[in-house]
Amino acid sequence: MNIRWYGHSAFELTSEQLNILVDPFITGNPSCPVSIDQLSPDVICVTHGHADHFGDTVELAKNNGSLVITNYEISQYLQSVNVKSIGINCGASVKIGDVGIRMLSAQHSSSFDFLPNNRYAGSAGSFLFTFNDGTNVFHAGDTGLFGDLRDVVGNIYHPDVAILPIGNIFTMDPVEAAIATKWINPKIVIPMHYNSFDSIRQDPEYFKKLVEKHSPTTRTMILDVLNSEKIVL
Ligand code: NI
Ligand code: MN
Repeated sequence: MNIRWYGHSAFELTSEQLNILVDPFITGNPSCPVSIDQLSPDVICVTHGHADHFGDTVELAKNNGSLVITNYEISQYLQSVNVKSIGINCGASVKIGDVGIRMLSAQHSSSFDFLPNNRYAGSAGSFLFTFNDGTNVFHAGDTGLFGDLRDVVGNIYHPDVAILPIGNIFTMDPVEAAIATKWINPKIVIPMHYNSFDSIRQDPEYFKKLVEKHSPTTRTMILDVLNSEKIVL
């Protein structure tokens, strides 16, 4: 399994059988080094309806015949525009190929902010991916600090890798994300949702220092999208 960051909250997880894109905000993402014609996801996972997460879901799914896993309301919308989608809700899981995909909660809002009337898009979520070798990867979506990160994500699922937002304004800031890291206690934590826009400027090294101090067994990996860095687990 490997992990690649495309900037903001867009990540690619690759198993033996599947290429999975999470929150594929590619077009208009100032920190994304690729265009949608360079991507060929089998599965797309969307945490919530905001444009910086829903992104290019429709175009990518139509171009590649991808299956979209998301919440019920976003799934209903996708089916109305002829995209293959399975709608689930927080706590539920599906197995696609060799990957288990579970939707968990996030403390955030969700709407189609790019459609008229800011249309309702269900509850914001997060995803836990479980691979055949037992490795778990948690993608938190957009969230503030809340108890499920400790009680559910940390205590029940204890992921090997946690991908957490640190940008502030719309999500946790570095201090809250460091507390979440302590609760989750992953082997690796990856910061996301920062520096793609001026409103979410953060120093990931500050986050790394906080994690080193409070979670000494967790390694912070600050990914570099321009060098197309891949984490191989
Ligand atoms: Ni959002
Ligand atoms: Mn966002």
